[in-house]
Amino acid sequence: MSYAFEAEGLVKRYGSTTALAGVSLHARRGTVLGVLGPNGAGKTTAIQILATLLRPDAGRATVGGLDVVRDAARVGRLVGLTGQYATVDEDLTGAENLVLLGRLLDLPRAAARSRARALLTQVGLMDAAHLRVSAYSGGMRRRLDLAAGLIGRPEIVFLDEPTTGLDPGKREDLWATIRALAAEGATVLLTTQYLEEADALADEITVIDHGRVIAHDTPAGLKQLVGGRTIVVRPSDPALLGAAARVVERVTGRPVEQQHGGALTTPVESARAFTDVVRALETARVDVAELALRLPSLDEVFFSLTGVTETSATGTEETA
Ligand SMILES: Nc1ncnc2c1ncn2[C@@H]1O[C@H](COP(=O)(O)OP(=O)(O)OP(=O)(O)O)[C@@H](O)[C@H]1O
Ligand SMILES: [Mg+2]
Repeated sequence: MSYAFEAEGLVKRYGSTTALAGVSLHARRGTVLGVLGPNGAGKTTAIQILATLLRPDAGRATVGGLDVVRDAARVGRLVGLTGQYATVDEDLTGAENLVLLGRLLDLPRAAARSRARALLTQVGLMDAAHLRVSAYSGGMRRRLDLAAGLIGRPEIVFLDEPTTGLDPGKREDLWATIRALAAEGATVLLTTQYLEEADALADEITVIDHGRVIAHDTPAGLKQLVGGRTIVVRPSDPALLGAAARVVERVTGRPVEQQHGGALTTPVESARAFTDVVRALETARVDVAELALRLPSLDEVFFSLTGVTETSATGTEETA
């Protein structure tokens, strides 16, 4: 099996904080690996080690078959990294920045210009190409940062939360860019706080928490891993939520969670439980507006693995 990058047992400590406690991850060529984890899980630390910006205390990693410590300089030339704004000069325009980076990579002037134009178009910055970066919004900087990382047509691309802070339309645009990269044969490591993003883009997902890998699978495999299926019940009258929850809990023997919008969800192993719930609700005369059996969302997988909901992982719902 030839992996585009491969890390084994990475350990990184900061004083008494263990950022990575033995992380292993890998991706086959031409695939997208999603790395998911709550705040402080160690995602950025892992990317920085793979991109040679940080040395591990223990463990080893290769990128394109090269050791990230011994062959750091060559690895550095092999990969495109985004998530570090340092590469961009505030006083230059977006286009000037990209042309300059292309020139630094030894592209002839005309080639650097056309590469810059193509990338600016791809990330939706053509209209702002001749604006100084100091006038860019946060979302525009993020997109320029991604374009900067792609100038040298890297075969291996590390994207640390590339879409954080982008509005939904721009996020979709970046997803298309990332899909195009993989389709052209690049290997992508993507960290994200958005589970739907990993679901939409990643061939495989590594979930890390407290510096350890707690799961690695395809998105579908991860969903199968956790309770198999989910029963969704939404009573037609919110006043019946309590009665419905009691019925579902009694029949399935599993705890019921109440979602935003008044639906109840319960993980179950078999489809049989579903028919039992349907009958029991009928007997108890609980009228339902929605009744479904579906694969769990990655959200539920994440919660079940880490005990952290997506929203509280991003720190926006701490007090809820
Ligand atoms: N330079 C540093 N000095 C001290 N501690 C650090 C440093 N960088 C990271 N840490 C700690 O290491 C742990 C992992 O941090 P890391 O940035 O890798 O997490 P992350 O998964 O990227 O989190 P986030 O989702 O918030 O970006 C955290 O506890 C963090 O506080
Ligand atoms: Mg991070």
